[in-house]
Amino acid sequence: MSLLLGVNIDHVATLRQARYAMNPEAPILEPSVLEAALEAKAGGADSITVHVREDRRHMQDDDARLVRREVDLPLNLELANTAEMVDFACDLKPDFACLVPEKREEVTTEGGLDVVGNLESLRKTITELQSAGIQVSLFIDSEEDQIKAAADIGAEMIELHTGTFALTTGEERQSEIKRLYFGAELGNSLGLGVNAGHGIHLENINELFYVKNLKEFNIGHTLISRSLFIGIRSAVEEMKAVMLEYPSQSMK
Ligand code: PXP
Repeated sequence: MSLLLGVNIDHVATLRQARYAMNPEAPILEPSVLEAALEAKAGGADSITVHVREDRRHMQDDDARLVRREVDLPLNLELANTAEMVDFACDLKPDFACLVPEKREEVTTEGGLDVVGNLESLRKTITELQSAGIQVSLFIDSEEDQIKAAADIGAEMIELHTGTFALTTGEERQSEIKRLYFGAELGNSLGLGVNAGHGIHLENINELFYVKNLKEFNIGHTLISRSLFIGIRSAVEEMKAVMLEYPSQSMK
């Protein structure tokens, strides 16, 4: 199966909030999150991701509800592991919920969710989300113990954090690619669906094509940046076209 593209449209809300956070009742609120999602779909997006943060700094509850109602694509809600956010997710019923760290203490050294350090509370949250019919993903670093812990506590999927890969160069980057490669292989062997995301763009995506066993890339910043010049639909089309090259045959 070909590699899927999940389009994160948070930055559309970031831009809207920059102008209207203090005036949510203004007659026109732009840019429209719904229009962005529909344009992403027209460009070939396989799913839409929104991150409703505890501080509601970009996506608002109503944005997520509108996208859920009006866009005929799987919805992936990113959320923190808090009672309030889990209640919100159970009410929204996205197809997927990806638990992400929002506070320092939930973060591993690299920046993914610290599953090992939060086993019981994550286990409880996963069960609650799954009882609402939502498939759960954990955004983690490509670390053996974190991946095994994700499988142990019953997550269906993991999203490997590619942020470190995106920020490094040279040998460090090569070793990050290998780390992602082995993480994806381990996750797959444990029966987890393996996605990847953070910091992926057209200049670095090809290097990730050596990482086998991936199901979906979750991409936001570069698509919204590129859409300033060519529109969201074309930005998504462009990314999807490149993703057809996945997987590359061998590691460098
Ligand atoms: N995956 C997760 C869990 C995220 O929180 C984000 C947004 O930061 C992304 C993927 C997309 O990252 P980017 O915007 O760098 O493409």
